[in-house]
Amino acid sequence: MAQTVRGVTARSKGAPVTIEEIVIPDPGPGEAVVVIQACGVCHTDLHYREGGISDEFPFLLGHEASGVVESVGEGVTDVKPGDFVILNWRAVCGQCRSCRRGRPQYCFNTHNAARKMTLTDGTDLSAALGIGAFSDKTLVAAGQCTKVDPTASPAAAGLLGCGVMAGLGAAMNTGGVGRGDTVAVFGCGGVGNAAIAGSQLAGASMIIAVDINDTKLEWAKHFGATHTVNSSRTEPVEAIRGLTDGNGVDVAIDAIGLPEVYLQCFESRDLAGTVVLVGVPRPDMTIELPFLEVFGRGGSLKSSWYGDCLPSRDFPMLIDLYQQGRLDLDGFVSETITLDGVEEAFHKMERGEVLRSVVVFGPGGAS
Ligand SMILES: NC(=O)c1ccc[n+]([C@@H]2O[C@H](COP(=O)([O-])OP(=O)(O)OC[C@H]3O[C@@H](n4cnc5c(N)ncnc54)[C@H](O)[C@@H]3O)[C@@H](O)[C@H]2O)c1
Ligand SMILES: [Zn+2]
Ligand SMILES: [Zn+2]
Repeated sequence: MAQTVRGVTARSKGAPVTIEEIVIPDPGPGEAVVVIQACGVCHTDLHYREGGISDEFPFLLGHEASGVVESVGEGVTDVKPGDFVILNWRAVCGQCRSCRRGRPQYCFNTHNAARKMTLTDGTDLSAALGIGAFSDKTLVAAGQCTKVDPTASPAAAGLLGCGVMAGLGAAMNTGGVGRGDTVAVFGCGGVGNAAIAGSQLAGASMIIAVDINDTKLEWAKHFGATHTVNSSRTEPVEAIRGLTDGNGVDVAIDAIGLPEVYLQCFESRDLAGTVVLVGVPRPDMTIELPFLEVFGRGGSLKSSWYGDCLPSRDFPMLIDLYQQGRLDLDGFVSETITLDGVEEAFHKMERGEVLRSVVVFGPGGAS
């Protein structure tokens, strides 16, 4: 039977989010209902609220989550009620032209639930990234549930569901950072600091963190930055060249998504280096690059969707590293909040006060 729970919705462009009663249908074939335990506040939720992703309001926000499977629909065999799962937005289809070529990490036709969650008046909700987890429960495609070790902290584990995975993977998968590489990461929010942690795990010898906020740069050191540059005071391209014998870095990662920052990445990489864009630009943004330099510097300009991750491969492995003390997921959790704290968490994010605010749910629903 359909259930009514509370969820955080964005009703119109730029308007503060509100908590609404939302209706969760029973899972259809291939679907699952998940009781949410924790859900991080990602900048992409704010992009949705600002109308930067699509105009399909109202949105049910939240997508960086862990929880316990409550029920599954017909034909679901990979997960069962009671499983502790991280939700992902890459439930690969296995059929599209990318999956068929053995590149499921780029799957062009990822699965979401076909049934719709709605407001109580029947209005369809657009679930952020096909998840919608600032809610007591959510309906997803079963493939969006990745089973992991249930002893992991829900708040920490959920972060792998988006921003932290995106950052780790931008360095480890898309950027291909390896032993002895030099790396610069622009923007040290949750995504950028995860790129720093990923670069360290991958064996980078120098990791330069760039941000305009000194607090973020302190946190960056905690995650493995060997050098920091405050780009509001110091020209970052010169600083990076200065630290690398005038050469630039092997991998430059834009974890913000601003044209001027992308240009700084472009200019601060070494010959044959790689630029990785993981920050999400706004629809009105354009970039202009010196075309001869695009050729002359060689290397590659790449974009990283979700850190090119494969949830079934990467989430359990990263939870192992977390459990072994090699990946500090807890360090990304700046504060835990309740559902009614999401709007304020956006403001804290804008003011640069947090890496991640994480909504934690109590036993009887949102605490
Ligand atoms: N590609 C993906 O799959 C994916 C997944 C999750 C998030 N994202 C995107 O990644 C980006 C970062 O997300 P987040 O949650 O870490 O955001 P955040 O707001 O926590 O962090 C952004 C950081 O950039 C810094 N910054 C802002 N302007 C700057 C400038 N001009 N120069 C240097 N630093 C500057 C801020 O001080 C802050 O520390 C967002 O655009 C988000 O939408 C992408
Ligand atoms: Zn596919
Ligand atoms: Zn996200």
